[in-house]
Amino acid sequence: MKIAVMPGDGVGKEVVPEGLKVLDVCAKKFGFTYTRTDYPFGAEHYLETGVTLPADALKEIGAHDAILFGAVGADPRGNARIPQGLIETDILLKMRFELDQYINLRPTRLLPGVPTPLAKVAPSDIDMVIVRENTEGLYCQNGGFLYKDTPHEVANQIEVTTRRGVERAIRYAFEYARQYGRKKVTLVAKTNVLRYAHNLWMRAFEEVKKEYAGIETDYHHVDACCMYMVAKPKVYDVIVTTNMFGDIITDLGAAIQGGMGMAASGNLNPTRTYASMFEPVHGSAPDIAGKGYANPIATFLSVAMMLDFLGQPQAAAAVNQACREVVADRANHTRDLGGTASTRQVGDAVVAKIG
Ligand code: NAI
Ligand code: MG
Repeated sequence: MKIAVMPGDGVGKEVVPEGLKVLDVCAKKFGFTYTRTDYPFGAEHYLETGVTLPADALKEIGAHDAILFGAVGADPRGNARIPQGLIETDILLKMRFELDQYINLRPTRLLPGVPTPLAKVAPSDIDMVIVRENTEGLYCQNGGFLYKDTPHEVANQIEVTTRRGVERAIRYAFEYARQYGRKKVTLVAKTNVLRYAHNLWMRAFEEVKKEYAGIETDYHHVDACCMYMVAKPKVYDVIVTTNMFGDIITDLGAAIQGGMGMAASGNLNPTRTYASMFEPVHGSAPDIAGKGYANPIATFLSVAMMLDFLGQPQAAAAVNQACREVVADRANHTRDLGGTASTRQVGDAVVAKIG
């Protein structure tokens, strides 16, 4: 396996090295080998060099099997030297779009022992997988201004919705359900108001679901989905949704599963034409960076997703199980979970469970 490693900025530099420790113990225990290439890109690198992500580096990164990514982004207070959104669009979105990582996969699971802000839920009530379409919708920068900076300025941001893009996301959700023994796929959209784009989603969903007899299906408007995720999260098993709605509901998902320190994700190119990218959902967390107490569990769960994707399901299961056991003990909780453990301590505990 060829793995590109991009820690990025802030806590990314603290959690990714722990993730590599976990990867190394898995390699030893499960008998696989990998090669690793490190890349420095991020806000800090941009401030030093003026370079975001050069095209030749992107090409080289894309030729790996997978990318282990931390987070990019500077402190939003006080970085006037970085144009707004430059790092996000030039690094993160560029990788997602140009490497055709058309699925953003975000398992949302509450592990036993992890505090959730929801009052009356048991861990078994929160166990869903959100499949977010990752290359189209409102996020692909198709739009523009007319008469900019005049009183009659017009701004268009187009929700690009293609039959191919929608269908491959929906089909992935059903394939995932079939492969992992999930029982239900729910489409989340807004068909009552977005009567063209989401009508296409609905028609594609209705057609594709016919090929998956045995798997239950449902549809929720996104506003109702937000309510259910808080009031009755148990209704969800696999969710498939648009790029923007997926962005929003997965942060809600992260909150109910114990916060940013617990939320893992994969940006997948399921055809494996280019590298897929695995990353904790959180950003560079400038408010706690450099202190050594960022929660690395989201990174470990992302490493598990990477191992599963690369054909090492046993190693993936071992990482998931080790994380589950480690967070069940409050002595291993970092500050975001109400404890005092350090990043390294949690990493050592997970490594010890696996090794
Ligand atoms: P953030 O996710 O970095 O932080 C939000 C809150 O969660 C903060 O209070 C932070 O301390 C906490 N948090 C985050 N990760 C944590 C961890 N592992 N353990 C414990 N607590 C954790 O989001 P924020 O502050 O909005 O963004 C900071 C920078 O990161 C910005 O430049 C933003 O653009 C960038 N960003 C990058 C992302 C990426 O690279 N995928 C995703 C989100 C934001
Ligand atoms: Mg987000």
